[in-house]
Formats: sequence, C-alpha cells, structure tokens
Amino acid sequence: MPVTERMKSVMQVNQRLMDFATNSTYAKHSRDPDIFDFTFGNPQEMPIPGFAEALQKWVPPQDKDWYAYKLNDMETCETIATSLSNWRGVTFDAQDIAMTSGAFAAIAIAFNVFLDLGDEVIFSLPPWFGYEPMLVQAGAVCVKVPVLSGSFDLDVDAIAKAITPRTRMVIVNSPNNPTGKVYSPQTLEQLAGVLQHASNEQGKAIYLLSDEPYARLVFEGKPFPSPAAYYPYSMIAYSYGKVLLTPGQRIGFLALPPQMPEREERRQQILTAQIAGGWLFPTALLQHAISDLDKLSIDLTELEAKRDLMVAGLQNAGYEVHQPDGTFYLLPKAPMDDDMAFSEILAAHNLFVMPGTICSIPGYFRITLTSSRERLQLSLGAFAAARASVSP
Ligand SMILES: Cc1ncc(COP(=O)(O)O)c(C=O)c1O
Repeated sequence: MPVTERMKSVMQVNQRLMDFATNSTYAKHSRDPDIFDFTFGNPQEMPIPGFAEALQKWVPPQDKDWYAYKLNDMETCETIATSLSNWRGVTFDAQDIAMTSGAFAAIAIAFNVFLDLGDEVIFSLPPWFGYEPMLVQAGAVCVKVPVLSGSFDLDVDAIAKAITPRTRMVIVNSPNNPTGKVYSPQTLEQLAGVLQHASNEQGKAIYLLSDEPYARLVFEGKPFPSPAAYYPYSMIAYSYGKVLLTPGQRIGFLALPPQMPEREERRQQILTAQIAGGWLFPTALLQHAISDLDKLSIDLTELEAKRDLMVAGLQNAGYEVHQPDGTFYLLPKAPMDDDMAFSEILAAHNLFVMPGTICSIPGYFRITLTSSRERLQLSLGAFAAARASVSP
C-alpha cells in the first residue's frame, strides 16, 4: 500500500506514542479493571453532576434547524464571548470566536490559517504530543526549545535565539501539560517583548498561539495570566474537554482577542479552514448546550487536594516531584536514568504512567490525577514499593 511522503513523516513523529498506546505493557493491561491507570488524561470516574443533564435538556429540537449543519452558532459564540469577557476582564467579540471540535481542531485551524509551507514554529520541550505531528501535517518546520530545567519556566532567551526570518509562530501552553507550570506575567511580558522586537525587525508578525485548555484548572484561587493578553498578534485555543473531564465530547474554540490587529480580515479565512479542514465544528447538540456546559467544572478543590496528597505522598516515598500550579498532571523524576525501564517497574506494581521519554522529557514520568482520591491514596503504597525496589 503506497504511503505519501507527508504521511510517512507524520507517522514517524507519532511512532513512539502510537507504540506506547498500542504495543506496550500498558496497552496489554489498559482494560484490566483493577490497574492504577494514570497514563492519559481520561476520566477514571463517572462524569461530573450536571453534564449529562445539560445535554439531555438540549436534545428536544426547538425548531426545524436544530440539527441542521451548524457553523459558528451565533448564540453559542455570544455565550462564550460573554464568559471570556467576564472571566478575563477583556471584551471579546462573538464574531472572533470560532467553534471547534476541541482544542485539537482549534490548533489545526490556526496552523492552516497562519502558516505557509516551510514556516518555522517554535514550541517548548516538553510539549503536548499533538504539536509535532500536526505541524508536520501542515508542512511546517518544528523548532524545539527546552524549558528551564528545575523551574520548568519558559526559556525566553533561548526562544529569542531560535527565531529566524522563517519563524512565523510560537506556541505557548499554560497551564502546561505535562509540567503543570503557569507562566508568570513577567515571563510572558519578556516573551512579548522578544516577539514584538523580532516582528518589527522582520516587518511581519510572528504569531503567538496560546494553547490553554487547562486555563480554568489553576490552583489556590490564583489568577490565570493568559499569554494572549501580553502580545497583540495572539490567538487562543481552548477545549471544554479538560474543565469538564469529558474529552470524548468534542467542543472548544479558537478565539482572537480584541487587540489582535488582523482579527476582522481573518474571520473568513478561519471559517474556510473550519469547513475545508473537514467540518471542524462541534456537533449541533454541544453548541446548543454551551450556556449550561460553560457553567460546569470538575471540583477544583478536590483536584487541589489530590495534587497535595500525591505531591506529599510521593515525596515521602523518596521521589523528587515539584508542585504544579495547575492542570491535572504531576511530573515526578524517575529514580533511575531510564524512565522507560522505571515505568516497567511501576507497571509490575500495577501502576501505569506516561514515561517521560514519550513526552520528550526523559528521566521523568507523568501521572494524571483524574482518579478518585481514594484510588490515588491507595496507589501511594505501590509507588513506595516501586521506589524502594531501586537503589537510592
Ligand atoms: C496542551 C494540550 N493542548 C491541546 C489538547 C487537546 O485537547 P482536546 O483533546 O480537548 O481537543 C490537549 C489534550 O490533552 C492538551 O493537553
């Protein structure tokens, strides 16, 4: 069967993750009912109260077009613009909200609209696993800049050095998957200064894609400084899949903030990309239900309690683990150089995690906190036994 060159490249960059998902010890055991499954960001409990009810409420059709093809339903976009405006203190225009089947589609649309073949896109390591295959698919060139070791902060100086005349976009993911880092206003101002300076020198904009599906999952009641608020040529990719912990019900958006100079000219292009990309809109039902869905969230107090439980529990067991500012991930250091080998040791204790090598951060492993507090508490004994089985 012939494979196109582009598909070969996409498959190549995706290979490690695909092997892990389909041909690993985890793949063999992923359906066992009693494993501690801390690998992917999937729910490990029943959906939050109110979610199914919100969908049910909007099922009965209110007019003949209820289930017709839905573009960016204006009422839906207005709900989101109002919610964003209330939440961020910035007045978003409903016409600058493009409804998408999750952040995945929002990011794909941003790549289609803002990148030409061969454009360079900078993102930080460790990255979300989707950027590289999607950029290769879009014909762009990936430029990877590690975050600062220890703090996991953006290395703005290294980003500045990585900029070339072909750089067209920088992706920032805050709160970050997998580090849990929320970048500070100072870091974001510094980045904005670098991008502004480079754009001025080149005489054309370098865009900032703020990928922020975890924006509402920030701990200790702290505000979320959106990277998009610091730099005008920004766009926001968002998904409801994280805050509702229902990633299989695909709804999100691509939003251009009011200070984005090109927002009016870009509307038609974005709509075209939503259609030509393969009808990347959420289903009609999800768009109708947004006024109710937008009010719901997983229990953030409970999530923070899980974070505290696991950080303290793992530290007591001898792991080195930092405290994430947000998201539902922890990124402990593996107590041996080979994180793939340590993940196998964890698997032998019934614990399944994402090895750091798979997320481009060798020497670490990622744990999701989407299991119940009781299950997490129970897992700590197994984590301690695994830690004790390797040399100090
Ligand atoms: C950083 C980041 N961006 C984008 C996505 C895609 O989100 P969704 O699957 O809800 O579209 C994810 C999902 O894990 C993510 O972690």
